[in-house]
Order: sequence, then C-alpha cells, then structure tokens
Amino acid sequence: MEQLDEQEIRRRLSAAANHALRSLTILPEVDSTNRYLLKENDLGADGVHGCLAETQTAGRGRRGRPWISPAGANLYLSLLRTYASVPKCVEGLSLVAGIAVARALKSLDVRAVALKWPNDIQIGGKKLGGILIETSGASVGPWRVVTGVGINIDMPGDGSTSIDQPWTDLARHGAHPGRNRLAARVLGELIMAADQLAESGLETFMGEWEQLDALRGHEVALHGPGGVRRGTARGVDSNGALLVEIGGQCERIVCADVSLRLLT
Ligand code: BTN
Repeated sequence: MEQLDEQEIRRRLSAAANHALRSLTILPEVDSTNRYLLKENDLGADGVHGCLAETQTAGRGRRGRPWISPAGANLYLSLLRTYASVPKCVEGLSLVAGIAVARALKSLDVRAVALKWPNDIQIGGKKLGGILIETSGASVGPWRVVTGVGINIDMPGDGSTSIDQPWTDLARHGAHPGRNRLAARVLGELIMAADQLAESGLETFMGEWEQLDALRGHEVALHGPGGVRRGTARGVDSNGALLVEIGGQCERIVCADVSLRLLT
C-alpha cells in the first residue's frame, strides 16, 4: 500500500489550499489524529493544520465508539481550524464536512456515495467512512475545531470482526484512488467547504445535501434516552437539524439527541 507522503499530498493541492494548510503532520502511529491536533498547543491560530497517520491505536468514532484503524489500509485524517469565537453555523459544520468528503470521492469517480445524517459516508447502505468533529476552547474563544475523517480504503478481511455495523471499503467498489491523492482531495475539499460555510452559510449546501441524503423519505428509528421512536425522515432544516415526521408532526432532531437506524 502506498505510503503517506507530505510532498505528494501538497503537490496535489491548489495554491490556495497549500497556503491555508500551515502544517501537515504525517505519523506512522498515533493514538488518534483528532486527539493529536487537539492537544498540540503550539500550532498557530492562523490557517489550518492537518494530521494523517498510518495507524491509530485509539481511533475515536462518534458516540464514544472506537474507530478500527489497521495500519496502512485506510485513511485517518484530521484538520484543525481555530475560530476567534464560536463560529456561526456551528451545527452545520458536521453536515458540511460530509458534503466535502462526498465531493472529494465524486471527483475521484467514486459513485453512489450517500450521507446518512449527520455525516456517515455510505455506499449501498454500508458505511464507507465517518466524521468526528471535536472542539476545545473556552466560551469566549479562541475556539479550536478538529474535523476527523476516516475512510475505509482496503480493509483487511479480519477488520470486520469488531465493526458493529455493515461496512464497505473503496477496494470492494473497484476504486483505487491512491492514499495520497485521496488525502489531498479530502483536505482540499474540507478547506474549501469550511470557507464556503463561513462566507455564504449553510443554505448554499442545501441542494447538494438533498442529492446526497440517504434518509429522506425513509422510515427511521430514533434511539434516545426515552426509548425508541419511529418516524419518516424529511430532510434537514436551515440549521442542519434532521426533520423527522412522527405521528403527523415534524420534529427537529439535533446530533446529541439520538442514534439513528434506517428501517426501510
Ligand atoms: C464515526 O464514528 O463515524 C466517526 C469516525 C471518525 C474516525 C476518524 S479517523 C481520523 C480521526 N481520528 C479519530 O480518532 N477519529 C477520526
């Protein structure tokens, strides 16, 4: 499998993205690329900082789950951006990161990519990748936001044993983009999409979200503290909350509320 290489990645980035990306750290092994960037206090507040690793020993998934990170097989990438204060559209960041990854995959001819709200990356209903956004900082700022992306490229056969949901990888779909090329596209799209969000707002992503939405019109089960409720997914609102019709009423669901299963 192709080794990750900073020069190879930078060579493929646009001049604007190269300028924005103040540092790109590539590690043979790390506990978690998200954790690495969150605890690196020396990184300046200007521009963005990236970290990639060949393997993670304590990769983190959403809802406290581990992220299985075998060596050299997949993409484990994080990007740190510092905001002077809590950014507008903070809830939209999550959706926008998913759209950025979908754009990157499409640009590499990976078709049939869909997003399961808020940002699971799927092909054919199986998980191809995921995004974990973590933050640190006092309420007055500065506010550090790390967007972590894991994409399954060529998962070893035994990788499936501890993954608790249907999954897939790029190799199973005949896609072999190369890890440096994939890393460059994902970094470039994440940088551009965060700029687009800051400048133009979440509305400018809504049409794209509708195209990518894996849930719209489907029955879903919402697993929350009060038990399981069923409803029909009706897209997202202008803040990025999921709309679910339950008993004729549309409810707004935000990320922290629930875990979600697609039923039909
Ligand atoms: C999910 O559960 O769907 C989110 C998975 C996010 C995994 C990535 S891999 C790179 C970055 N570092 C981590 O520890 N997690 C994210």
